Amino acid sequence: MDLSLKDPEGFSKWMNSAVKKELSDIIRYFFEEATAEEWSVMSSYANELREKYYGKKVYFRGLIEFSSFCRNDCFYCGLCRSNRSAKRYRLTPEEIFDCCRTGYDLGFRTFVLQSGEDKYFTDARLCHTISGIKEFFPDCAVTLSMGERSFASYKYLFDAGADRYLLRHETADEAHYVKLHPSELSLKNRKQCLYHLKEIGYQVGAGFMVDSPFQTFDTLAEDFLFLRELKPQMIGIGPFIPQKDTRFRGYCTPSSSRTLALLSLIRIMLPKTLLPATTALGTIDPLGREKGLKAGANVVMPNLSPVKYRRDYALYDNKICTDEEAAECLSCLARRITSVGYIPDFSRGDYIDFLGKDSSCG
Ligand code: 5AD
Ligand code: FES
Repeated sequence: MDLSLKDPEGFSKWMNSAVKKELSDIIRYFFEEATAEEWSVMSSYANELREKYYGKKVYFRGLIEFSSFCRNDCFYCGLCRSNRSAKRYRLTPEEIFDCCRTGYDLGFRTFVLQSGEDKYFTDARLCHTISGIKEFFPDCAVTLSMGERSFASYKYLFDAGADRYLLRHETADEAHYVKLHPSELSLKNRKQCLYHLKEIGYQVGAGFMVDSPFQTFDTLAEDFLFLRELKPQMIGIGPFIPQKDTRFRGYCTPSSSRTLALLSLIRIMLPKTLLPATTALGTIDPLGREKGLKAGANVVMPNLSPVKYRRDYALYDNKICTDEEAAECLSCLARRITSVGYIPDFSRGDYIDFLGKDSSCG
């Protein structure tokens, strides 16, 4: 593989026209064969492209995990409804506002409200919370991450003030999707939700786990094709980490290198994407988030949830940052970001082509 013949833009163009077999081959190549020099060429391309649009900024998002109830039974997730050992909690609107207040005073201007698919949170209840946040903190963006809902519900929440929505597609390969989810969930519906969110005007985040059970180079190539088609503003990818109460317990422990390779390849394919260095990446590798930034990531999402609930939001085992107060995580992360030459940024950090909520975004 002669990467030196291509420049970053050339490689990006190639990634955008490659067919599935070529994408599968390039992913396999970086997982299995690439030399240290080729890795360094690839990450320098990824960095050059990121810097072209976002400079050295790393955007902070304050994560509020507001409910650990979930009606779904995804095979990989510790919050799945059949997990009887999972502790369930819900934050009250006042507790959520308090998290935002703490975050706001620390400088955060984006709040990510994340939960399992919890029926208790009807449109009306969510609307109360979202519009409350917007009223108290009008200069902040609100990102939702609460799974599949109807078009009407997504629209209602958007009109209540939500700006962005994260919904990982998990895998874009039909057969693989079935191996990770119970039969009542479908890839078709998941994709439909993502298109609905885009149509309504949200800045949308898709994504998947790296090293999830039954993932192959071909399923990853399918993920790339789907991301290329959807063109989400954000892409969340992080390693799959087994959770002890799920059917995938004991499934091999991942290494960070494959996530890092995919972060770089995604940055090269979709250079304007907002790409988080995830907590999962920091969980499997003590320097995972720093390495993620160097590979092309430009977002971090420290936890603003009350410390007393943190351990109960156990998507996977050994999650980091469950004991640290928001301020501690913030200074720890800021230090980590500057240590690798990037600049912590507390602005809303919208997608580069986003023109404002009332206009269409590119
Ligand atoms: N390991 C890593 N990530 C996980 N998620 C769920 N379970 C796990 C796990 N065991 C991810 C999914 C989901 C996001 C909120 O967390 O991709 O979309
Ligand atoms: Fe949470 Fe370092 S980021 S302790």
